[in-house]
Amino acid sequence: MILRLAGVSKRFGAVVVADKIDLDVARGEALGIIGANGAGKSSLFNLITGVVTPDAGTVSLGGRDVTKVSLRNRCVAGIGRSFQIPRPFESLTVFENLLVASEYGREHGHRGANELCGSILERTGLAAQANTLAGKLTLLNRKRLEMARALATQPDIVLLDEIAGGLTEAECHELVAFIRQLNQEGVTIVWIEHVVHALLSVVSRLVVLEFGRKIADGEPHAVMNDPEVRRSYLGIDDEVAA
Ligand SMILES: Nc1ncnc2c1ncn2[C@@H]1O[C@H](COP(=O)(O)OP(=O)(O)OP(=O)(O)O)[C@@H](O)[C@H]1O
Ligand SMILES: [Mg+2]
Repeated sequence: MILRLAGVSKRFGAVVVADKIDLDVARGEALGIIGANGAGKSSLFNLITGVVTPDAGTVSLGGRDVTKVSLRNRCVAGIGRSFQIPRPFESLTVFENLLVASEYGREHGHRGANELCGSILERTGLAAQANTLAGKLTLLNRKRLEMARALATQPDIVLLDEIAGGLTEAECHELVAFIRQLNQEGVTIVWIEHVVHALLSVVSRLVVLEFGRKIADGEPHAVMNDPEVRRSYLGIDDEVAA
């Protein structure tokens, strides 16, 4: 098991963002997460990465309890993440942004940072923008940069927070192919996405959150057909519709 959450709970005042969440992610898996706005999806990533400390429960990475481990050390331990709202260093170039991420993340080993970041630029379709200031990028390229920065930390597991929204169908298709390929190379993927058709073309398991609670977890098509999921996420009440 690469990631395990056991009884993770967190509230901000009256808002419960995580309610006794148990979640296991196997190494090499591609897991999707959906849920209405405010369901606690991004908060779950904050709890996994260490931005937020749970009120109760534990987060383990590769069998090691990291609940009290810092953000940086969780990154070094192999968790990469892209943010729902891209957060590049706007006054640095694309390449410099990757160098910063690669220094923050794991040791480069025999490969130098330049080589690592150069190859990620190629893979994410950003090579032509290497020397562009991140603040000047188009939406698609900002999303690519979010992904590239996550990869520059050399993660075993990458958490992607809504990276397909706002893209054209062709751009979305390209993104899906890339994520699928990463997964085939052995990177574990956990992907929060409202563009459900894109998500379902990659993931082999789907989790649904509602008010910080996990209300479904299983095979994606079965989960999408679950009456509670249809009511919560799609607003379809099967009893009324019948
Ligand atoms: N640091 C915080 N302090 C107070 N409330 C917070 C904090 N972080 C999140 N919340 C609240 O917790 C709830 C869940 O937020 P979260 O961002 O996890 O939702 P989400 O499922 O990612 O939603 P979306 O689909 O809109 O991105 C929201 O009501 C949000 O306002
Ligand atoms: Mg969110």
